[in-house]
Formats: sequence, C-alpha cells, structure tokens
Amino acid sequence: NWSMDDFIDVQIADIREKVGDKKVLLGLSGGVDSSVVGVLLNKAIGDQLTCIFVDHGLLRKNEAQEVMDSLAGKFGLNIIKVDAQERFLSKLAGVSDPEKKRKIIGNEFIQVFNDEASKLHDIDFLAQGTLYTDVIESGTDTAQTIKSHHNVGGLPDDIHFTLIEPLRSLFKDEARELGEKMGMPYELVWRQPFPGPGLGIRVIGEITDEKLEIVRESDYILREEIKKAGLDKEIWQYFTVLPGIKSVGVMGDGRTYDYTVGIRAVTSIDGMTSDFARIPWDVLQDISVRIVNEVKQVNRIVYDVTSKPPSTIEWE
Ligand code: XMP
Repeated sequence: NWSMDDFIDVQIADIREKVGDKKVLLGLSGGVDSSVVGVLLNKAIGDQLTCIFVDHGLLRKNEAQEVMDSLAGKFGLNIIKVDAQERFLSKLAGVSDPEKKRKIIGNEFIQVFNDEASKLHDIDFLAQGTLYTDVIESGTDTAQTIKSHHNVGGLPDDIHFTLIEPLRSLFKDEARELGEKMGMPYELVWRQPFPGPGLGIRVIGEITDEKLEIVRESDYILREEIKKAGLDKEIWQYFTVLPGIKSVGVMGDGRTYDYTVGIRAVTSIDGMTSDFARIPWDVLQDISVRIVNEVKQVNRIVYDVTSKPPSTIEWE
C-alpha cells in the first residue's frame, strides 16, 4: 500500500523531527537527485535549508539560469550561486589529460563548496541525494561516507555534519516520480545523466573558451532537435564532443579549415553498457545542417557508431 503521497508525508515529518530548529546545507548540482532533495527539504523546513550551487563554467547552455529560475524562482529554495568559472578555467589551462582534468575539476569543486560552506554558521546537517543504488554500490553504510561521484565531494576537516539522505530507499525512477508529485517540471525531472566534470570532458584535450563555446552551442542544437523529433525519452544520453581536429571544407567560393564535431547518442539501462542510438538519418541531417550553419568554426559532423564496450559513452 506504499504510495508516493505517503512517502512525502512521512519524509517531511521525519526531516522536521530530525532537524528541529537547526540548519541544513545541500550541494545542488542541477541534476535530478539533488534537485528533488532540495524541493523536498524546502517543503519540510523552508529557510532552514541553504543550498550551494557551483557554476564551474562547464555546464550546458542556459543550465545555470534554468536551475536558478526553477529552483530558486518557482520553488523558492534558498540558493547561493557561486560563479566560479574563472577559478576552474584557470586551473584547467594547459591540461589535456582526461584524468588530470577530472581530478582538477573534482578538487576545485570541493574547495569552492567548502569556501562557501565555511562562510555559513551553525549548520548541523548536510543533505545528499543518495539513492538506493548508491547505497548498494558502495557496499557500506553511506551514512558514514561522502561519495565522490556526488558533486559534493568532501568537507572541511574541522566541520562535522550529520547526513540527511531522504532518497536512500528510492530507485532513480522513484526519485523522478517523487519530483513529479511535488510539481517539478518535466525538463528537470527527466534530465539525461550529465557528468560532474560537465563539458570539460567533452572538449577533448586542453579546454579553451573557444572550444567550450563550440561544444556548448552544438550540444544545445542537438538537444533541441532530439526533443523536436520526440526522441528525448528513449535515448539515454546524447551530446556533442569536440575532438579538436580540423579538416578541409568548402563554403561559398572558399575553402575552410575548421573543426569537426562528433555526435554521441546512446541507449542504455544503467550506463554500464550501451549501444549507439539509431537516430533516423533525416534527424541526423537536420542536426548536422544546423550545427554547421549556426556554430562558427565547424565544417564537419561525424556520428559515433560504437557500443560500450569497447568504447565508453564519454570520449574522455
Ligand atoms: P562512460 O564514459 O564511463 O560513462 O561510459 C558512463 C556514465 O557515467 C558518466 N560519467 C561521469 N559522471 N563524473 C560523473 O559524475 C565523471 O567523471 C564521469 N565520467 C563519465 C557518463 O556521462 C555516463 O552517463
């Protein structure tokens, strides 16, 4: 007789009892899990919740604005948005190794979060969007662990929070159902997975402003066209990558020498294995034409037709 309405009521009562008149901190990534936790906590304790949302400059087009409009605007969450683009990009300058990039982004994330958290006083609880699958995967009691793949990775040594993880008994689809029940918009609840390092691992090799712009703009066009074609729910993940190679093309009377953009679109159950999505040729053509026409310095589009294994979903 389990219903989502009961779940919401029980959780709200639980959270109120646990928190009392104390304060709770939440790291918002813009992803489904932390957003759902944010909205739930806001229902339960309102302004006793403070959220930190770090914009690392590697988010998708309009993403930070959409998160703020929706969660801070419509839902009224108390959110501190940290504009840390410069900080991240300067740390990443000259770095081309994928794992080094990941490490830098992860570490910087923790530092920015901690810098902000340490400005807040008398916070007793840290909320996280841990799901049942995370609990199983870790094999231990996550109440004691801060998982690194959650965008909030570590905490200052001298601050000790008690964790609040209201989604611990839920699977992903149940977390989405919970979000919908609380009136969260379709776009937020049915978001495709997006990696913590963001567009940083979709610009292959060294990240520059110019390359980020190409990935961001082409990704936006791809997402628009996939949605228009009604494929957004059946494709697990879809995005563009910039391998960084240039090739020869022709435009008008002139020869061009510009970047190639790769399209990656996969079907999957859990991201562990995947197959490339069979996007209809006509849709691919529309995407290709639009990207080449609308994104500067791009004259060629390729479609990635490898499964995982042997490839991975991301190119880095
Ligand atoms: P791969 O590329 O390993 O990706 O086949 C599997 C899934 O994981 C996501 N991914 C990441 N998520 N931090 C994240 O939070 C990362 O560093 C990272 N690398 C890959 C990827 O988008 C896909 O959904």
